[in-house]
Amino acid sequence: MSDPVRAPAQGSPIASAGDEVAAGAAVRTMFAAVAPRYDLLNHVLSLGFDMAWRRATARALREILRRPGSCVADFCCGTGDLTLCLSRQSAGWVVGADFCPPMLTLARRKSVRRGSRARFLAADALRLPFRNDSLDAATLAFGFRNLANYDRGLAEMRRVLKNGACLAILEFSRVHWPVFGPIFRFYFRRVLPRLGAWVSGVAGPYRYLPDSVSLFPDQESLAGKMRMAGFRNVRYRNFAGGVAALHLGEKA
Ligand SMILES: C[S@@+](CC[C@H](N)C(=O)[O-])C[C@H]1O[C@@H](n2cnc3c(N)ncnc32)[C@H](O)[C@@H]1O
Repeated sequence: MSDPVRAPAQGSPIASAGDEVAAGAAVRTMFAAVAPRYDLLNHVLSLGFDMAWRRATARALREILRRPGSCVADFCCGTGDLTLCLSRQSAGWVVGADFCPPMLTLARRKSVRRGSRARFLAADALRLPFRNDSLDAATLAFGFRNLANYDRGLAEMRRVLKNGACLAILEFSRVHWPVFGPIFRFYFRRVLPRLGAWVSGVAGPYRYLPDSVSLFPDQESLAGKMRMAGFRNVRYRNFAGGVAALHLGEKA
């Protein structure tokens, strides 16, 4: 069997960088470069819809969050927007984890500014520092697409979730609305990379964004991957006709 870490990466298209370690390092470097402008660009480029989608993700988990002592982790948390949404509703513990130090620094600062009880830690979503069966829910917002190996990511989430615990993946997906679809694709492929490069001063990440979305599994394929990885009751909800989709499933 090949070494899992040195195996060719089977996830983000940045994986063409080589094996999983090289792909992970390339993703980390890319996010470190955009970190200072990440929040601004997110909100501008999505016209503010991204926050509504994160709030909807937190609402989908509210019963779990309201249980006293529940443990919920937000993986690939970036600057912590979803982590903080989750924490606001939580009667237990919420932790945000990411492997990019500049993103985590911004998340911690934001958390302190907002008086949040959320905690943040440095962790690779493909090698999580959590015990088996330890979490009541796990979330990823716009992070799953960047993993160097999607199947390994799902297996690792499943490992750390308790039986019956929920995985929520919020990610860009396929637009199905007939008129809006081509307009959105034009914006996403032609306008957004230029706007992103102009505001952030870094071109690469905003060229990578449409590439990584177009190669990412669509709604049904991601649902299929989750089932194959051992999640049951897998369902999804589209936002803005499929610009983004929230997939939910429970550890079987
Ligand atoms: C597009 S940002 C999303 C951040 C945040 N979840 C949000 O909603 O804005 C993707 C994040 O995933 C992180 N990431 C990508 N691959 C990762 C991995 N293998 N382990 C941990 N974090 C990872 C990046 O460092 C980056 O902060």
